[in-house]
Amino acid sequence: MKKKVVSLFLVAAMAATMMTGCGDKKEADAPAADAAADAGETTPDAAADAGETTPDAGTEAADAADAAADAAGDAELADKKVGVCIYQFSDNFMTLFRTELENYLVSQGFSADNITIVDGANDQATQTGQIDIFIADKVDVLIINPVNSSSAETITDKVVEAGIPLVYINREPDEAEQKRWADNDWNVTYVGCDARQSGTFQGEMIVDLGLEAVDFNGNGKVDYIMVEGDPENVDAQYRTEFSVKALTDAGWEVECLSDQVGNWQQDQAQQIVANALGQYGNDVEVVFCNNDAMALGALQAIQSAGRTVGTDIYLVGVDALSEALEDVLAGTMTGTVFNDHFSQSHSAADAAINYIKGAGNEHYIGCDYVKVTAENAQEILDMVK
Ligand code: BGC
Repeated sequence: MKKKVVSLFLVAAMAATMMTGCGDKKEADAPAADAAADAGETTPDAAADAGETTPDAGTEAADAADAAADAAGDAELADKKVGVCIYQFSDNFMTLFRTELENYLVSQGFSADNITIVDGANDQATQTGQIDIFIADKVDVLIINPVNSSSAETITDKVVEAGIPLVYINREPDEAEQKRWADNDWNVTYVGCDARQSGTFQGEMIVDLGLEAVDFNGNGKVDYIMVEGDPENVDAQYRTEFSVKALTDAGWEVECLSDQVGNWQQDQAQQIVANALGQYGNDVEVVFCNNDAMALGALQAIQSAGRTVGTDIYLVGVDALSEALEDVLAGTMTGTVFNDHFSQSHSAADAAINYIKGAGNEHYIGCDYVKVTAENAQEILDMVK
């Protein structure tokens, strides 16, 4: 049910995108996939309705078979146990993700009582203990958002040995680890978006403003500060690198005034940006934050320093949290990038279902980010709210 509502939003957004011609092609990809999924869900109903008014024994028999198959599918999942490990419950983005994941799993036929979601409290030892408990409990599938991506090898080994299929989410294990899954034909996959794209989108939103508008101090360069998420996390590494690369790819000169770790946290980012603004004052032209929670902290610091986004400084984040979208609409944030937790959580659940049903999965399941400026922020807000 919930999924249908979500999908309808996505379809509406896709229609709006196509009508206005704003945004790039990638925006339409995920919604199209959802629309297809929805069509799959709604078509049998439509056929059943048609069957009522235009009796057709063949159609009715096919419908009955479909309904029986659906019911069997649901029954098959209803008693399956899903273990979900989240690196830290207090993370804003992962809260959206896990809420949607649970709703979607239930909509697909799992019983809420059989879905257990645990908080790793940003501590790998705690999470490893939770994985051990899930293994002892013989869950049918594990969905893991690792505290440290570098622990993936150890996690994979123990989960595979226990014969439990594994879906990693949000924090991508490195290439060598992913190669092991393919080489050994293990039931292990990763679901997530390519963080390089989100970084590139951040940089492009700045480039689109034009160098003249960004170079407030007229030194011919873009002077920026970077606020990074957890440095162990590939999302943080790529966003840091590719946001700036988009500027240099456009032929712009850049100057990094400060690059610090805010651990994805609003309060830490606020402090970092307050200090950097105190030190570099009006020379700070752009603030790049690896996520929106930190961009919201940066905005507090920017406003306290008497600076005005869009007038004497620019600010970009990633995730499209609703608060950040309101800021983009109000002009108090330059832009953000939609980190599609609907598509990621649905794909993770679908991958889990495929494993349970013996269908298997590719070892990497990607998705697209969407660039968000004042032009399309309302559209995205309507979707996430
Ligand atoms: C999100 C961050 C979040 C992190 C958690 C990233 O993809 O953009 O907001 O803190 O994932 O791993």
